[in-house]
This record gives sequence, structure tokens and C-alpha cells, in this order.
Amino acid sequence: MHVAENPFTPSFGEIPAHLAGRNQIIESHSRALQSAHRRPELTSLFSGARGTGKTALLSYLAEVAEQSGWVAVNITALSGMLEDAEIQLRRKAAHLVESNGKLAVKSVGIPDVVSLSIENVQPHTNWRSRMSDLIEQLNDQNIGVLFTVDEIDPTLDEMVQLAAFYQHFVREGRKVALFMAGLPHNISSLLNDKTVSFLRRATHEALGRIPDSEVAAALEKTIRDGNRTVDAEALAEATQAIEGFPYMLQLVGYYAWDENPEARNLGASAIANGIATAQREMTYRVLDATLTELSPGDLRFAVAMLQDEGDSRIADIAARINRTSSMVAQYRKRLIEAGVIGRRARGIVGFDLPYFREYLQEKHANGELLLED
Ligand SMILES: Nc1ncnc2c1ncn2[C@@H]1O[C@H](COP(=O)(O)OP(=O)(O)OP(=O)(O)O)[C@@H](O)[C@H]1O
Ligand SMILES: [Mg+2]
Repeated sequence: MHVAENPFTPSFGEIPAHLAGRNQIIESHSRALQSAHRRPELTSLFSGARGTGKTALLSYLAEVAEQSGWVAVNITALSGMLEDAEIQLRRKAAHLVESNGKLAVKSVGIPDVVSLSIENVQPHTNWRSRMSDLIEQLNDQNIGVLFTVDEIDPTLDEMVQLAAFYQHFVREGRKVALFMAGLPHNISSLLNDKTVSFLRRATHEALGRIPDSEVAAALEKTIRDGNRTVDAEALAEATQAIEGFPYMLQLVGYYAWDENPEARNLGASAIANGIATAQREMTYRVLDATLTELSPGDLRFAVAMLQDEGDSRIADIAARINRTSSMVAQYRKRLIEAGVIGRRARGIVGFDLPYFREYLQEKHANGELLLED
């Protein structure tokens, strides 16, 4: 029997075969991109911890945009990003016209004949006016320009400039959109920047835990796409191990698939071995990196949570770590923004990042953690 290639995508930034738990976002944003009128979703922020699928979502939405009559300029918040955006826009706009003036790009929403004179957009002017010219020419053909900005870094001047220029384009009535993604603490400090206060009115989507039912559905569909099947019980095991975390979904699926690729059905042992390998990989790629970003104070807070069987009361943590309530509040905020813990109810938090509790327990028992006294 011919078995298909492994259909899972356990690499960062790769668009998965089935984007679990993102239907609502995809629908609302597709509608905004296809609407004749300006909708608020055209300016959106996506925040989420490492491995929650920010880059994959941005890439997916950029594809939707390009099929809906937009040019998507995809950049990462790094120095040189403004220049990068201009180069990309020029290149993509140039590809819209063939030498005979006929359309070269297949997009449904883009008219048959596009005539642009991008070469005439003068280089000896500033970025904003050059971009404004390019956008105007595209808009004249009813082509919009979407900027996707990944890995938001609020300390980068160009990042803030781009947002400010974008606001001008919107004010001038241009057909433009801006989708930005980043770690929660970077998104929240960007929102505190006064020069881009308009972003506080942007649509904000926090990419959190995906419901188990959707995890199971995405796993099963991906396996079926690859022409194989999975036992109901094994599927439930896998879903439980994934804990709603998109990256873990890909890891478990990928390694379970490779256990015995000749067998048509993925059974209990393939899934169990896949889970074990996935957990190790998750430790290397996510847990270690997350740990190094925590301050000794954050760690102290997290370790104090280990004493509770389930969720923890902030009041108990404060008593255990002997810090002022404002310091405790700060540790709590930082841990939430790192995706390590989440708020359960008023004054109650619990671990959110899969396997972080077990990981911390082990490190703590081995005396590997540096906690301030
Ligand atoms: N909705 C989803 N359903 C299933 N798998 C997903 C989903 N979103 C992303 N993935 C998968 O999860 C992994 C991580 O995705 P991605 O790189 O987009 O995360 P990220 O949030 O950008 O992480 P980082 O903060 O490290 O950049 C990839 O393997 C990707 O294929
Ligand atoms: Mg990413």
C-alpha cells in the first residue's frame, strides 16, 4: 500500500494542513479583506506565547488577502524593515503587470488589466511619500496593500514609524491593512506607546489554548488527508497530551506518524511513542527557551505555585515568597505574558504552558534553578 508523506508540520512558521481553532479569526478577517467598506479587523494585533501559531496565522491571512485582491507585504520587525517593505511592494506590484500590460498574477480580486508606473515613483523622496504613491497607484486599480509584521518589537523605531505611517495612509482613505503579531509582553508595551495610541482601538486577538474538540478534529483530518486512520482511543490520548497547544499538535502527529509508516492505522503504541518524543522536543524548543527568559523573581513565583495540586491563589503565593504585593503583581503579569500561567478567576492562576509544571518540578528538585533569596 502506498503511504503518503508525513502531513504534519512541526516547524516554526509553517502553515499547517488544518489550522485548528482559528475559524472565527479567519472568517472575520477574510470578510474584512473582501468587504467593499473599511472594517475594523483590517487593523489587527495577534498576541500569543511561543508556538501558539502567530506566524502561521499571519502567513495564512496573507494568502487569503492575495486571493482577495490585495498585495501582501510580509515583514519581520527588524532594523531595515521599512526598506524591506518598500522593496517587496515594488517587486510585487511590478509582477502584477506583464510587458504587454496584461495581468500576470492570478488573483481573483485583481482586475484583468493593470497599468502601473512604479518605475516613475521617484527614489529621491522619503519613504512615506514613495509608499503613498505606490499605494495610490494600486488602490486606483482597487488593489489593497496589506502589511503583515511578525515578531513585534516595540523598542524598534522603525516599527513604531511603520504604524504611524500606516495611520496616515488610513486617514488619507487608502485601502490598506495592518496585521501585527508578537509575544504578549511586546504587544502590550507597543500599546503603551503614545505615538501609536490608535493601535489601542485595533482588533486584538489573543491566541490561547485551542479547545480539545478542535485539536482532535485537526489531528484526525490531517491523518485522513494522509490516507491513514487513527483509533478513537489513541486519538483521545493524543488530544489529552497536546493540551490545546498548536506546536504540540504538530509534534505529536508527526512523531506518531513516523512510528510505523507502513501501517494504515495509527494505534495506541504509535501514539504513545509519538507523545514521548514530542514531549522531549517540546522541552528543547519551547520550555528551555521560556525558562531562560524568566527573571529570578518570576521563577520564585512559579516555583511557589508547585506547592498547590491544581490552581494557585495569588494571596498564598504572596505569603510563600515574601515579596511586596506590587512585586508579586509584576511577576504574575510577566508570567502571564510569557504564556507560562493564565488567570483562572479573580486572584487565581494556573499553569498554561503544557508540561511547564513537570519541567519546573524536575529542575527544582535537581537544584538547577537560580532563585533570588
Ligand atoms: N492553528 C493551528 N493548528 C495546528 N497547528 C498549528 C496552528 N498554528 C500553528 N501551528 C503549528 O504550530 C507550530 C508553531 O507555529 P508558529 O511558528 O506559527 O508559532 P509562533 O506563535 O509564530 O511561534 P514563535 O513565537 O516562536 O514565533 C508550527 O509547527 C505550525 O505548523
Ligand atoms: Mg513566529
